[in-house]
Amino acid sequence: MEVLILPDRERAATLAARIIARELRADPGLVLGLATGRTMERVYARLADLHAREGLDFSRCTTFNLDEYIGIPADHPGSYRRYMDERLFGPVDIPRARTHLPDGMAPDLAAACRDYEARIRDAGGIGLQLLGLGSDGHIGFNEPLSALRSRTREKALTPATLAQNAEMFGGDPDRVPRRALTMGVGTILDSRRCLMLVTGETKADILARAVEGPITAMVTASALQLHPCCQVVVDEEAAARL
Ligand code: GLP
Repeated sequence: MEVLILPDRERAATLAARIIARELRADPGLVLGLATGRTMERVYARLADLHAREGLDFSRCTTFNLDEYIGIPADHPGSYRRYMDERLFGPVDIPRARTHLPDGMAPDLAAACRDYEARIRDAGGIGLQLLGLGSDGHIGFNEPLSALRSRTREKALTPATLAQNAEMFGGDPDRVPRRALTMGVGTILDSRRCLMLVTGETKADILARAVEGPITAMVTASALQLHPCCQVVVDEEAAARL
């Protein structure tokens, strides 16, 4: 694990965007794993900027998002499909057929999860996986006690996660879907390269546990310590307890 500490969240997001841009320029057909959450908004804004100013080309890449809520339609303001369409896919012009999120509206969720794993495999696996860090140490929606070899599946969300993600649901944790589909920890670890971006003082404790604590299913991000090629980009606030 390589930890890169930047002075503030703006510069941390800029570095993450530059790392993605460099990979994409080297391999325009890159299979990119994507994350949601407030931390990523700055990264997607930078990528949109690179597309507009420097012509960074996303037309041949393929994307797979980590997770999606169960039971809300794609056009719901809280859905991750809508988040991605508005913040990245629309602004950088990725053909819709090349963008993938787990289907939280599928009648057979287990089959949708198997299909998601198959689509990742058929695309040749994920080249670069972008990750955020949940306040309870999750990556994707791999909540505490997720098996470190888990694959894409349904997960119940913890009260901490419902509270963390309430903003997109009118600020009310009771309106956040209780369940989601998420790539597993094992799915994430199969990516050839991982890039986790963590900013802000509220993440300082959990970041220290993820990066320097024991590898444990209680903090699923700690499994990234097992990955042969994982960079962690953080700002000074998040790095306070390292
Ligand atoms: C959600 C997503 C995670 C993301 C996390 C961080 O829980 N499922 O993939 O890492 O949010 O959110 P934020 O950046 O808003 O702190």
